[in-house]
Amino acid sequence: MASMEGLIGLMNRIQRACTALGDHGDHGADLPTLWESLPTIAVVGGQSSGKSSVLESIVAKDFLPRGSGIVTRRPLVLQLHQIEKGAHEYAEFLHLPKTRFSDFGANFKSILPSCTFTYTLSFAISEPSTKLIVTALFFPLYCGAALVRQEIADETDRMTGKTKQISPVPIHLSIYSPNVVNLTLIDLPGLTKVAVEGQPESVVQDIENMVRSYVDKPNCIILAISPANQDIATSDAIKLSKEVDPSGERTFGVLTKLDLMDKGTNALDVLEGRAYRLQFPWVGIVNRSQADINRKVDMIAAREKEREYFESSPDYAHLASRMGSVYLAKLLSQHLEAVIKARIPSITSLINKTIDELESELDTIGKAVAADPGAQLYTILELCRAFDRVFKEHLDGGRSGGDK
Ligand code: GDP
Ligand code: NA
Ligand code: MG
Repeated sequence: MASMEGLIGLMNRIQRACTALGDHGDHGADLPTLWESLPTIAVVGGQSSGKSSVLESIVAKDFLPRGSGIVTRRPLVLQLHQIEKGAHEYAEFLHLPKTRFSDFGANFKSILPSCTFTYTLSFAISEPSTKLIVTALFFPLYCGAALVRQEIADETDRMTGKTKQISPVPIHLSIYSPNVVNLTLIDLPGLTKVAVEGQPESVVQDIENMVRSYVDKPNCIILAISPANQDIATSDAIKLSKEVDPSGERTFGVLTKLDLMDKGTNALDVLEGRAYRLQFPWVGIVNRSQADINRKVDMIAAREKEREYFESSPDYAHLASRMGSVYLAKLLSQHLEAVIKARIPSITSLINKTIDELESELDTIGKAVAADPGAQLYTILELCRAFDRVFKEHLDGGRSGGDK
């Protein structure tokens, strides 16, 4: 439904405006802030369970830092905004408002044949200098995404230093693209058991507290990531999500690394819901391996490989249509729409309250003054009003068009 798309997009913008106003949803107040009432999706799991990889394949973009060890050291709040077909896609950080990262994920479909060719070629070439030239020709195609990934890494270091320290201060990144659904996703540092060199002893608890502060909000949809090559009974993701969402009404179980299980074993007990039952069906995933990342295997190739993996697997072929990152993305956006629909009345009353508050605040500031705080308030006020309009349209649409 078109108006629902608009609604989700608008909520993304409101959330962004709230953040710009310094409302990080961390007030500890009894009333939920605007931010807190909007649905988000967060990944939870042990270190290197594949959280960043899963987020990346949901988005179908290569730009998150991934790898073994502690790579994600600050929360990354990722807002996807769908823009009209044919428009040029770009990424923008909240801390760099004037910089647009474009060319990122450059028209992959059209360049894919030449990419694949270049890959094959550069691997076939053993002579280092020739290999370098081939790679240099090929590299610019990745530049945009690489710059986004680099900026995430740099901005992490700016806050924490080049150590293994973590920080709870989020990085905000927006992606504008015709090829995404409107979603807010949060990448989080992995849960750990011990502090490693350069980390204070408190790091284990610090990370858990930080992750918990995101996922214990009732509006947070949890992607609980567990690797298939570890016993599900030891899963940090399941342990924490069970605590914050005992009924499992907002937890999606995601099983990664199916390709890394011991030969002769399979994960059917988990995937078919016998080992640990959740309200939603488990989704199995095969992300890119570290070797794939090093070889710069692109997203489309990775998705194709994942699809083939399930379809050709004697163990999982019967589940193939309900496995993989494409299916997970679809499942999530369906769920998100349902959640937003169910929450519309409470969100609207919150919005109305906020409009009143903002109006009195604006009166005291003085409407003619276009000083920064005032301008920002106007922006958010406008967004609230627009939200109200869309909400009413949505209701009208439901009334007149619903049961025809
Ligand atoms: P995070 O620490 O939970 O964010 O995990 P990452 O996404 O950074 O992944 C950690 C490492 O595991 C990377 O080297 C990935 O390539 C690898 N990895 C993640 N998922 C899979 C998977 O499904 N299969 C394989 N073979 N490797 C994976
Ligand atoms: Na990692
Ligand atoms: Mg990560």
